[in-house]
Amino acid sequence: MGRLGWALVMYTLEKIFEGAQDFLPLLGTDYVEFYVGNAKQAAHFYKTAFGFQSHAYRGLETGSKDSVSYVLTQDKIKLMLTTPLTSKSPINNYIVKHGDGVKIIALWVEDARQAYKETTSRGAKSYMEPTVEKDEHGEVVRAGIYTYGETVHLFVERKNYNGAFLPGFKKWESDYNPPIAGLKYIDHMVGNVGWNQMDVWVKWYEDVMGFENFLSFDDKQIHTEYSALMSKVMSNGNGRIKFPINEPAEGKKRSQIEEYLDFNEGAGVQHIAVATDDIVATVTQLRLNGVEFLSTPPEEYYKAVPDRLEAFSHELREDIESLKALGIMIDADEEGYLLQIFTKPVEDRPTLFFEIIQRMGAKGFGAGNFKALFESIEREQAKRGTL
Ligand code: FE2
Repeated sequence: MGRLGWALVMYTLEKIFEGAQDFLPLLGTDYVEFYVGNAKQAAHFYKTAFGFQSHAYRGLETGSKDSVSYVLTQDKIKLMLTTPLTSKSPINNYIVKHGDGVKIIALWVEDARQAYKETTSRGAKSYMEPTVEKDEHGEVVRAGIYTYGETVHLFVERKNYNGAFLPGFKKWESDYNPPIAGLKYIDHMVGNVGWNQMDVWVKWYEDVMGFENFLSFDDKQIHTEYSALMSKVMSNGNGRIKFPINEPAEGKKRSQIEEYLDFNEGAGVQHIAVATDDIVATVTQLRLNGVEFLSTPPEEYYKAVPDRLEAFSHELREDIESLKALGIMIDADEEGYLLQIFTKPVEDRPTLFFEIIQRMGAKGFGAGNFKALFESIEREQAKRGTL
């Protein structure tokens, strides 16, 4: 066999091996469910402020007596907002303890029973055994496991379903339809875990979900004068799902991760990064809609940007003055650059926030911006008296 023939055999073997290793093939993020105190008002906020569209509804009118859920979409993103309707609902316990936040990160799979079997046999704690739900549009199979804190991964199999969302939901028609803001898909979702818990959860994602540690940042890279954190990015086999995991590190003052853990009363989702193709247009609109962002980095930050890009021979396609006026940050690596900005927390507890990100080739998470970002967060912490 010639050299080309061997190369083909090796390539094929590699692909077979890769396939065998990915015991949990994930097609993408299906939806993210928040438990909130008042889903009706939260839905209005996500429509008005972030440009989400009314999609599906379940409540008293559809026969759901104990809770109500609103589903919102924007391009590939689906958010579900759920509120209990009586004091007896177990959802109340979550809200009392954590405040509004992410309960479920639902993952789209080909075979939910298999995903449940593979993960529980590797040590995942069960949240929901495989459950079939049906209506006139077909059937959906869902199963779930617990991850950090009270957060859950639900596996959603919808290949035999052609309804709007899930059985039990009706299409949500609304006369109030504000324009979209150009948000496309979930780029990554970050979890904050307690002291010495990062590596525990890194191992959990490796062992139970078959993820790989794609990038790591230690407290020497991510620190300011006052506080520090450590972060490891976990990615699934096809790279569609990325979960960075943060833990606090020792500093002179209380880090933002500790503040989160105190107010969330435990581990949970810290931020959801949503991608756009035009961050200048998206952030312009979000600001007009009243979305609050962290303060703009100082003048020196923007002065250093051309050199940072030049170091990797990248040319900025956007107008730097527009980026500065909107407070958008820029980071670069060998493969390209990225543009990003962070909102303030979207509830009264300083817990969950959003990131808006536009990737121009870069695969990183903005490590070059961490210092500027944390100093901005520390200014907010100082105002709250929690630094
Ligand atoms: Fe992020």
